[in-house]
Amino acid sequence: MGSNLTFTYFRTFQKSPEKLFAAPCRINLIGEHTDYNLGLALPAAISKYITAAVGKRSDRKIHLKSLNKRYDVEVSLDNISNSVENGWGNYPLGIFATLIKRGHKLPFGLNIVYQSNVPIASGLSSSAALLNLTAFIASVMYDIPLKPEEIALLAHQSETEFNGLQCGVLDEFAIALGKKDKCILLDCKDNSFEYKDVEFKGYVLAVIVSNVRRNLVVSPYNTRVEECKKAVETLKPHLNIQSLSDLKVSDLEKCKDLIKDDVIYRRVRHIVTENQRVRDFILASKDGDVAKMADILNKSHESLRDDYEVTGEYLDYLHEISLKYGAIGERMTGAGFGGSSIALIKKEDFEVFKEKVSKDYDHKFGIDPLIFEADICDGLVVKSL
Ligand code: GLA
Repeated sequence: MGSNLTFTYFRTFQKSPEKLFAAPCRINLIGEHTDYNLGLALPAAISKYITAAVGKRSDRKIHLKSLNKRYDVEVSLDNISNSVENGWGNYPLGIFATLIKRGHKLPFGLNIVYQSNVPIASGLSSSAALLNLTAFIASVMYDIPLKPEEIALLAHQSETEFNGLQCGVLDEFAIALGKKDKCILLDCKDNSFEYKDVEFKGYVLAVIVSNVRRNLVVSPYNTRVEECKKAVETLKPHLNIQSLSDLKVSDLEKCKDLIKDDVIYRRVRHIVTENQRVRDFILASKDGDVAKMADILNKSHESLRDDYEVTGEYLDYLHEISLKYGAIGERMTGAGFGGSSIALIKKEDFEVFKEKVSKDYDHKFGIDPLIFEADICDGLVVKSL
């Protein structure tokens, strides 16, 4: 963890930091857009990190600096609001505002210097990593004991209330609960989770970052959340459900009769079949059936493309060429609308796959994608100096 970071901290504040912190980012194997529908997902933390050097201040200011940003943000703990001038600082600042809102007395300010090697706006959850990291920093520095799942919930409250994205808990839980070589089977109905060994037997899980920029708050993400709410309202008087995840695949015929709007019906069909794909993926993984797992990944991409309509031309093209160049399964991961995908590819074919996909994608869009092997890792880390 970061000599550049400690050096920058020292140069900026003329003293050494007290602690170093790190948060990984995440992929989601299966279970997309199910979290805010109280359904199932199977994410894992991967070893691309945001790190931070932190120390206390004698006043009540929060001074935020990032090696990846052009400007610093400094705000008093007594006067935090979401504002345009705070720019990227609105993410970390939300954590302090949320703690204050929860009634915590924060007796001193902090200096924080961040450094990230998570590709920005990549669908790998750089924003949740920043939120979780800052929630973790605050819990350690202010001595507020929080379990990893409580850190995740604090970060989630901050993202929804302070930053205005109506997202589910997937990203925050994946990052806070990450465990080396394990996937996390998350049930968003009650936020319960279970660690799962998922083995790909001779295959690697490649991550492909499309390098298409997007901003979730202004993307159709919130529209999808609204469409799902609308579907629940329509179905509730007829079927005994609280969320779309209470529906089974066998209920879809009934839903088709009840929902007159074809677009809304297709949103429902994605959520219901995606929850089933998570269950099927777990079973296939238990049986060591990699071909079945790959087929489920492909079906998920098709459903996100045709029914949920969140893939877009870049991710669809990556799906097409990944299968052409040897992947047996490939799907977008995260919110979509640009972002990233994951692909299952034979270990010995990875380098050639990477070269061919990069060349073809660059030829079509003039953009170099970033492709690397996923390394599933532990969640939040703290180190005293
Ligand atoms: C984003 C959101 C998550 C989840 C995914 C889609 O990453 O932050 O809560 O909804 O999209 O599965």
